[in-house]
Amino acid sequence: MPESKPKLRSTQWFGTADKNGFMYRSWMKNQGIPDHEFDGRPIVGICNTWSELTPCNAHFRKLAEHVKRGIYEAGGFPVEFPVFSSGESNLRPTAMLTRNLASMDVEEAIRGNPVDAVVLLAGCDKTTPALLMGAASCDVPAIVVSGGPMLNGKLDGKDIGSGTAVWQLHESLKAGEIDLHHFLSAEAGMSRSAGTCNTMGTASTMACMAEALGTTLPHNAAIPAVDARRYVLAHMSGLRIVQMAKDGLTLSKVLTRAAFENAIRTNAAIGGSTNAVIHLKAIAGRIGVPLELEDWTHLGRDTPTIVDLMPSGRYLMEEFYYAGGLPAVLRRLGEAKLLPHPDALTVNGQTLWDNVKDAPSFNDEVIRPLDRPLIADGGIRVLRGNLAPRGAVLKPSAATPALLKHRGRAVVFENLEHYKERIVDETLDVDANSVLVMKNCGPKGYPGMAEVGNMGLPPKLLRQGVKDMVRISDARMSGTAYGTVVLHVAPEAAAGGPLAAVRDGDWIELDCEKGLLHLDVDSDEVDRRMKSLAPSAPQSLGGYQKLYVDHVLQADEGCDLDFLVGMRGAAVPRHSH
Ligand code: FES
Repeated sequence: MPESKPKLRSTQWFGTADKNGFMYRSWMKNQGIPDHEFDGRPIVGICNTWSELTPCNAHFRKLAEHVKRGIYEAGGFPVEFPVFSSGESNLRPTAMLTRNLASMDVEEAIRGNPVDAVVLLAGCDKTTPALLMGAASCDVPAIVVSGGPMLNGKLDGKDIGSGTAVWQLHESLKAGEIDLHHFLSAEAGMSRSAGTCNTMGTASTMACMAEALGTTLPHNAAIPAVDARRYVLAHMSGLRIVQMAKDGLTLSKVLTRAAFENAIRTNAAIGGSTNAVIHLKAIAGRIGVPLELEDWTHLGRDTPTIVDLMPSGRYLMEEFYYAGGLPAVLRRLGEAKLLPHPDALTVNGQTLWDNVKDAPSFNDEVIRPLDRPLIADGGIRVLRGNLAPRGAVLKPSAATPALLKHRGRAVVFENLEHYKERIVDETLDVDANSVLVMKNCGPKGYPGMAEVGNMGLPPKLLRQGVKDMVRISDARMSGTAYGTVVLHVAPEAAAGGPLAAVRDGDWIELDCEKGLLHLDVDSDEVDRRMKSLAPSAPQSLGGYQKLYVDHVLQADEGCDLDFLVGMRGAAVPRHSH
């Protein structure tokens, strides 16, 4: 007879010898589960974002099998369940639109089911924050297992990086430097194994963030997807989560303010994606940790970027792992007293510092010494001014240093379609000093805040050899992209932000050092223009898209839905039988 162990929430399903217990157990037994597995052992959910439409996560069934082996070995009872998979490469209009949807799925799946803890299988960009957001709102014991990056891409005997190669090759194609055949021949070589983008794009960044936050076992971020050690890590995570369930080591004990400060500092050291600003804020919001945009300036400033990975640098995630991975980076930060909270708790029960203090480094070109960084002052810069009263961000390591202080005349695109139509116009009044401004690509405007902020340069300027220009928008940018690109302008144009008032020919000043983004137009004139704007036609949206647009918060607040912010806990809902 099952024994009642109230410590574990699953006993409220399976721990009684009454009608309800009968029903819960009986239906589960149709999967061939023997009676003794309902003896009160921890039941561990394996929250799987596997999907063949999310190619970066398409190997996750195998990963789940290895997690299960670890759970069984530790005396737990694994139950794998699917959740919505936000795949970056296929999903339209943008995977970001469904990050919050996926997080709702995760939260409700955890709270409504008999699980005592969860292993979160994450990979492609949005899947990591979505899973952490959902699990954080429930505050159950949780451990992240990432799918791992793809092997290095190859083209013409050289290494090419996911995403970054696409931007580079496409610019070369438009500039007439390569032909279409050569461009298309890169497709298979760029993505030649299972796994996530192998650059320090958003997926790799978020895997590093999950590790720096303490929600993974050491080395989770960088082991290649097809390396046997990835499966060992999955097994060990399964082994560990059972003890976490028994100990009640819930996410709120790991995801503290200290953990977020460690993660923000780490992001600067790895040259991580600007998308981390939005995702960390959203995760923090779910667990009740205050986090401000300015934290990125305070904690990121003066932190050297020591990981030499594309798009900022030369190498890829495969080399990063062979060079020592994230533990080697954290050790270097810690030894230089740059790790804000070495004593932060991690999911293996040890502190972050305990995990990394002896971590070896094997290649000083890939993970550089702090006195020979890739960029002396890394991090993500927060900009404010009359053009972005609630902030905007820029990644100096991906930018052209000479453009970080710039004054130029605006060339304005009202939306993405307008940009596409106008940018190819050979008569467009634009030169290398112009500032390209795109509106209506923010959370509400697109909707979903597309990764289009790194808008391609005008073909006529590319042919003249122009490689970079200042670009400003309320959009996001792929973590694999680069350029002097001001992103996440808040409030966005579609939410009444002053970006909506910018017109062709206006002077705009960017001063990264001072954190300034200024529209050189008299404030009365800006007000006049804002009042004269035609009210935007109501979007004929229904379903989830309407819910999203009605409730999405601005970029500085993490783009969560307003009613999802907060930790609602894992209290067991009453049963319906
Ligand atoms: Fe999935 Fe880059 S598209 S990780």
